[in-house]
Amino acid sequence: MKPIGTAIVMAAFALAAGAIPAAAAFPERAITLIVPFAAGGPGDTVVRLIGAHMARTLGQPIVVENVAGAGGTSAISRGARADADGYTIMLGNMGTHGAAPAQYPDLKYNPAKDFAPIGLMVTTPIMIVARKTFPARNLREFVDYLRNNQDKVVEAHAGVGSVSHTTCTLLQSIMGTKTARVAYRGTGPSINDLIAEHVDFGCDQIVNVAPHIQAGTLKAFGVATAKRSAAMKDVPTTREGGLQEFEVSAWIALFAPKGTPQHVVGKLNDALVKALDDEGTRARLLDLGSEIPDRAGRAPDALQELVVREVARWTPVLKAAGQ
Ligand code: MLT
Repeated sequence: MKPIGTAIVMAAFALAAGAIPAAAAFPERAITLIVPFAAGGPGDTVVRLIGAHMARTLGQPIVVENVAGAGGTSAISRGARADADGYTIMLGNMGTHGAAPAQYPDLKYNPAKDFAPIGLMVTTPIMIVARKTFPARNLREFVDYLRNNQDKVVEAHAGVGSVSHTTCTLLQSIMGTKTARVAYRGTGPSINDLIAEHVDFGCDQIVNVAPHIQAGTLKAFGVATAKRSAAMKDVPTTREGGLQEFEVSAWIALFAPKGTPQHVVGKLNDALVKALDDEGTRARLLDLGSEIPDRAGRAPDALQELVVREVARWTPVLKAAGQ
């Protein structure tokens, strides 16, 4: 007969040993990745690029589900309540996890408390874009035109609380304008309507508009960063165009529901880190003008800190802008 102490140790070992294969097994089936905007927009593009590499690392498919509405907040409310097992994860951005609390008093989630951050995917500078026939040749003329024709001009955005809505709210408050604003289910469809000239202008993430600016189907009036983008050296910064107050970048990240086991978050983060180190994936992201975080910036803790900082940053800005 074994002494009792040994039996306890063995039982404990057996439990731990049982836990290890289960931990190592994740993922055993496809992972659903909720994108809270329509297909074809910046979030969707970035997720499909990075997700393809992550799926190879994880050895399981990542199925992207576009669930649009209310500036992305409906889908994030749903994602926050999904089973915390790593099989349902979601894209969150500067809008859904930074600006939305200031815009929705009854928001059904707390960006800083209801998620297990997986990691930051990219940072995406904002650009001011317009239909190709917009009657202005540069940012100064664009601002003048808007100030003098507020009742004629229509802005397109991806819903209250989205990146495009939030950043154009800031832009309009800086310019002192209040044009009509039309909400879409993402900037995939809003940019399509801008190209078709059904609307006049918008603020969008560089990854979504770069190919259209390069093709001449959209006009770009400025990139809202201190330096010109390496992906589009011909487009001046907003500072060069006399609008230095409008400097803003968005970001796109991955989140799991709160309570997702740490080893699962670790596996997902590891796959993300590997995707961002992959030469082919990097080249495509950089071509689209996105900025790739360094190793420290990809950690779950760094994303948690970013969310807290962004909520604190956008709340007073949007209040001052009257939102
Ligand atoms: C999208 O993916 O459509 C955008 O991120 C929408 C936005 O936040 O402006």
